[in-house]
Amino acid sequence: MQKRTLGNSGLEVSALGLGCMGLSYGYGPATDTADAIKLIRAAFERGVTFFDTAEAYGPYKNETLLGEALSPFRDKVVIATKFGFNFGPDGGQSGMNSRPAHIREVADAALKRLNTDVIDLFYQHRVDPDVPIEDVAGTVKDLISEGKVKHFGLSEAGVRTIRRAHAVQPVAALQSEYSLWWREPEQDILPTLEELGIGFVPFSPLGKGFLTGAINEATTFDSKDFRNVVPRFSAEARKANQALVDRLGEIARDKGATPAQIALAWLLARKPWIVPIPGTTKMHRLEENVGGATVQLTADDLAAIETALADIKVEGDRYPAHLQARVDR
Ligand SMILES: NC(=O)c1ccc[n+]([C@@H]2O[C@H](COP(=O)([O-])OP(=O)(O)OC[C@H]3O[C@@H](n4cnc5c(N)ncnc54)[C@H](OP(=O)(O)O)[C@@H]3O)[C@@H](O)[C@H]2O)c1
Repeated sequence: MQKRTLGNSGLEVSALGLGCMGLSYGYGPATDTADAIKLIRAAFERGVTFFDTAEAYGPYKNETLLGEALSPFRDKVVIATKFGFNFGPDGGQSGMNSRPAHIREVADAALKRLNTDVIDLFYQHRVDPDVPIEDVAGTVKDLISEGKVKHFGLSEAGVRTIRRAHAVQPVAALQSEYSLWWREPEQDILPTLEELGIGFVPFSPLGKGFLTGAINEATTFDSKDFRNVVPRFSAEARKANQALVDRLGEIARDKGATPAQIALAWLLARKPWIVPIPGTTKMHRLEENVGGATVQLTADDLAAIETALADIKVEGDRYPAHLQARVDR
């Protein structure tokens, strides 16, 4: 697989990464550990060198899984993880916490779980309104000078926060949602990242599965699946949003690709410093998604996609209200 560099950081990764969250958290029961390890190693064999996790995925379990799965080729991959929450006794998030002492504790614990001596990319998972971003950036800067972390990242941060953070410690990458059905980053975020030389890592690049065509209004989700509380995944919203997937399906057929591959190729075609991190728990879908890196969209293809989707309004918020409040603007 081709490589990309995240902005001016020099951090080189495969054009597509692997989002590992769903193997432990978010979309129902965790995948059996042996199967999850097989999938992660299969991704590496197919050229994926960028693996995304977080303390919050499990919590903790996903980092431990990556630590084991990636150990045979640790020096050949880039591991990205995230800090920024407290967890209650049941493992649920009990609030944000990006206080410097906590960031340090999380870094040390993540290094152990990941079975490594350095975190390649350490993101703040959500901007903490109680801690000045300069203090967060300064703490990660110290961790970098101590050799525990290589690069600093932010997630769902707004442009003011990005600029303030970047002035203290250059930000290698922003990880935020971006896909054919969530294009808000095009307004202010992408121009700011381009100006500052920061890479962009779109999460949920397949629209949490919806853009692949595998979900419709009749789909039921496991009781633990986060999509049960996402307004964009209500049965009515899915019915309304089916038009987008139908058009995407037509475009994919014309191109001899699948909708998932078009969704990924579209992101890759936006900017050379964009690196999507699709997630899957299934080997055949991993193969399909990796194939998205070889689908070349021409300027005419991109214009046709723009025209085909222009009159479709996506229904439903991408987060329930209590989580939307955590998104920094
Ligand atoms: N920074 C943040 O706040 C944040 C938030 C969300 C996610 N993330 C990161 O971004 C990664 C990806 O995002 P995501 O998992 O939310 O969404 P995604 O990659 O857009 O979609 C994942 C979903 O799509 C399904 N899927 C994947 N490939 C498919 C295919 N070819 N055909 C049909 N269905 C397919 C998966 O189900 P199966 O497993 O059944 O294939 C899964 O339910 C996560 O793993 C995580 O690392 C970060």
